Amino acid sequence: MIYTVTLNPAIDFVINMDNPLLGTINRSESEALYCGGKGINVSTVLKELGIESVATGFLAGFTGKEIEDTLKAKDIQTDFVHLESGFSRINVKIRSDEETDINTKGPNISDYDIHLLIKKLDEIKGDDVLVLSGSAPQNADDTIYAKILSKVAKSGAMTVVDTTKKKLLNTLEYKPFLVKPNINELMETFNAKINTLHDVEKYAIKLQNLGAKNVLVSMGDKGSVLFSEDKQVIIQSAPNGEAINTVGAGDSMVAGFIAGYLKSKDYKYALKLATACGSATAFSEGLGKQNEIHRMLDLIESK
Ligand SMILES: Nc1ncnc2c1ncn2[C@@H]1O[C@H](COP(=O)(O)OP(=O)(O)OP(=O)(O)O)[C@@H](O)[C@H]1O
Ligand SMILES: [Mg+2]
Repeated sequence: MIYTVTLNPAIDFVINMDNPLLGTINRSESEALYCGGKGINVSTVLKELGIESVATGFLAGFTGKEIEDTLKAKDIQTDFVHLESGFSRINVKIRSDEETDINTKGPNISDYDIHLLIKKLDEIKGDDVLVLSGSAPQNADDTIYAKILSKVAKSGAMTVVDTTKKKLLNTLEYKPFLVKPNINELMETFNAKINTLHDVEKYAIKLQNLGAKNVLVSMGDKGSVLFSEDKQVIIQSAPNGEAINTVGAGDSMVAGFIAGYLKSKDYKYALKLATACGSATAFSEGLGKQNEIHRMLDLIESK
């Protein structure tokens, strides 16, 4: 089974409007709600690929219930820890000529809540996959993902970490199968300027030397580079198209990589399916759907 962990899920409230102004009443032109969070996005794209997963992490309050109901309606299995107080986040995304986001804090978690989550992951076996994605609640420290990995590392499960800075670095001693920083995250993790492919390689190899098996660096419309465990460097360009929404492209890429690798055990194919999923999302309103993913894969494979 594949388990995705989202520590701080959110409902995105997207408001489309002209000229938002502070200090006055603004009226929206249209609005929409999207339930998500990075691990949840991975589960959603896996579902599009016909692969089952269990979405876990922390939920709270009425917004938490809505997120869980939305997942269930999509026939995605859930096994969240329900926090006793607070409510899962509502992030406000104002879309006008510019994009303005208000990302909220979300509920606090206690050591006991973390213990409950780790207990849920107790049953993980060697042929399972664990995906740890995204930011953590504000009161959680930078060892939270490392703590989770320390408990599951001995199972031999395949682990994937998509986060940044110390939260990422702290996990590396547990030898994650895949880490997927985007180029900005790679820069902020090492506090370095990265301008050339040579620079990308330098820091990706640093991540490998610290313990990561495979390092996938994504670069938006410029594609991605995989530094694999067996010392291949695979460069993959992204298909051309009109980007509609690139939020979640990286999460989609993670889903595609896992699906592709599990199916073929071939890094080149895994990277192609990863790219198809990432680009399908970039060219869609929400996350990429099955048809668009297959269209992208055909485009990539015909090159
Ligand atoms: N504008 C685009 N056109 C084509 N493909 C894209 C575009 N943006 C993203 N992709 C595809 O998706 C992959 C992942 O995108 P990106 O590097 O933006 O991830 P990210 O920053 O981690 O995203 P997020 O964290 O929001 O999920 C890219 O490597 C590329 O294959
Ligand atoms: Mg990302």
